[in-house]
Amino acid sequence: MERDSMLYQDLESILLTKEKIAERVREVGQQITRDYEGKAPVMICILKGASIFFADLIREIALPVTTDFMAISSYGSATKTSGVVRILKDLDKDILGKDVIVVEDIVDSGVTLSYLKNLLLQRGTASLKIATLLDKPSGRRVEGLNADYVCFDIPDGFVVGYGLDYDQVYRNMPDIGILSPAVYEKH
Ligand code: IMP
Ligand code: MG
Repeated sequence: MERDSMLYQDLESILLTKEKIAERVREVGQQITRDYEGKAPVMICILKGASIFFADLIREIALPVTTDFMAISSYGSATKTSGVVRILKDLDKDILGKDVIVVEDIVDSGVTLSYLKNLLLQRGTASLKIATLLDKPSGRRVEGLNADYVCFDIPDGFVVGYGLDYDQVYRNMPDIGILSPAVYEKH
């Protein structure tokens, strides 16, 4: 997709180019490969936001990983989470005794991740780590909640692209950009 196409016109600016994302995803994949040497972790994709990142990340991990998918929704306005999380689709397979890596798109308040972490730990995983594409440390409301692998720390501001949406749109934009506030202030 060209950077002068219509989706890009709603951006205030491009924050991370697809080239920069690819380079960093490769580094994190290689780090996971080293950290999990001799193991076969279960990679869990949190739908839908993490789908693009997940597809790229697992191809940079040189281990016999398996994959599973979970869909959750957190109620709230389109740009802020409410803290109430609901499972829309659960995992297909049991994760008892497994090394699990949860793959998320973004950690903002940390409410979604904290809920997920507790839920999955209760299922008796051997280990549980979180890999996130983006981290907004300034938005944190849950004390001490951090991802184990972070591709990029970003400033406050609503971002879209590379899987992240506003009202389900912009997920297919190859770069990540800051959405113009005018787009969501209309609603
Ligand atoms: P948290 O519970 O506040 O950490 O929010 C995490 C979820 O909110 C993410 O999985 C996203 O779906 C959504 N989210 C938070 N910030 C953004 C953003 O800047 N763009 C798109 N989605 C976001
Ligand atoms: Mg999400």
